[in-house]
Amino acid sequence: MEIAVLREEAEGERRVALAPSNLSALAKAGLSVRIESGAGEGAGWTDRDYREAGARMEADRDRLLDGARVALQVRPPTPDRLDALPPGILLVAFLSPSPDDLPEELARRRIDGLALERVPRTTRAQRMDALSSQATVAGYRAALLAAHHLPRFLPMLTTAAGTIRPARFLVMGAGVAGLQAIATARRLGARVQGYDIREAAAEQVRSLGATFLEAELPGEAEAEGGYARELSGTEEERQLQLLGQHVPNADAVITTAQIPGRPAPILVTREMVSEMSPGSVVVDLAAETGGNCQLSEPGRTVVHEGVTIAAPLHLASELAQHASEMFGRNVTALLEHLTADGELSLPLDDDIVDSTLVARNGTTRSRGDRDNSNEE
Ligand code: NAI
Repeated sequence: MEIAVLREEAEGERRVALAPSNLSALAKAGLSVRIESGAGEGAGWTDRDYREAGARMEADRDRLLDGARVALQVRPPTPDRLDALPPGILLVAFLSPSPDDLPEELARRRIDGLALERVPRTTRAQRMDALSSQATVAGYRAALLAAHHLPRFLPMLTTAAGTIRPARFLVMGAGVAGLQAIATARRLGARVQGYDIREAAAEQVRSLGATFLEAELPGEAEAEGGYARELSGTEEERQLQLLGQHVPNADAVITTAQIPGRPAPILVTREMVSEMSPGSVVVDLAAETGGNCQLSEPGRTVVHEGVTIAAPLHLASELAQHASEMFGRNVTALLEHLTADGELSLPLDDDIVDSTLVARNGTTRSRGDRDNSNEE
């Protein structure tokens, strides 16, 4: 079976869907890999690196895709990319954020689509969870970005020129990205406070040496799959009251709060930013879904009354090498899972296939649809 890795199209995107180090595992599973020339450049790998690892390089897009069973990329496809994909191929990528009608568009073109953001959060699928691996990278990078913008040290320092107090970080949303931001800021010596509405997050935050800010909600805020639920209007008000007391004391606020399928909740209001000391920093990792800070401008860094507000998009791309290696391991594990005797197998009674497959054989599908033929 032939796998084709496409060069990323989005401006500034430096990741690539497979790293040279991922190729030997795929070869063991009987899969041959072709890579679009220059696809690894942004992450620091040359065509020669891939060739030496066993891939075939292709400069011509048609030849790259001709006869390939699977097309791999990181970000969702543009209309141009869809035009290039032949009917019958399986596209494996993050298919969100993208127009809501992408599954319909794939089905119309008879392209099968596997959405990586839908990999279930189960122990069995953990190795295939690219959302988590990329969130880990983004969380790490967010702490460094905050450190970079702060006009202060992070650790406590005792020097002949005086004693420096440690920087105070407040990390909101203690999921995968938030926990990594907490761990990184702690390693750099900051004093860190974590906040989340899921009770389960408290122990994880404390285990990293940070303190936990209790949301004190009337009921459990954890919904299906371990994700957070949307808060009611009254709960939101209480939350903002609580956060309003803590944000002004922070040198850096990192926000990562998301609710699947919904706009990101606002956790840092304009008033809260105004109460922060000049020189403080907000890094908003939820910019892709609107942002957690009212003043965030997705993709930009702005300064409001001396407070820097960074709302980067696709932060994982800035650490392209490790982000790509991790992404590559995730898709390698997924492809191994989907391969039987060297051929692609998409059994709908497999929960990973059932959750991730959004278009197949010319029809769209969602989790639990069993209406199509059971095995390819
Ligand atoms: P996410 O990116 O959807 O959200 C990030 C964090 O924001 C979550 O911790 C969520 O509780 C929090 N949040 C949402 N609304 C909030 C609000 N109003 N105020 C404060 N915080 C708010 O979540 P992520 O990082 O993708 O992980 C979600 C859950 O899935 C976590 O419990 C994580 O531990 C779990 N997980 C399980 C895996 C597995 O079992 N294989 C793999 C990865 C994650």
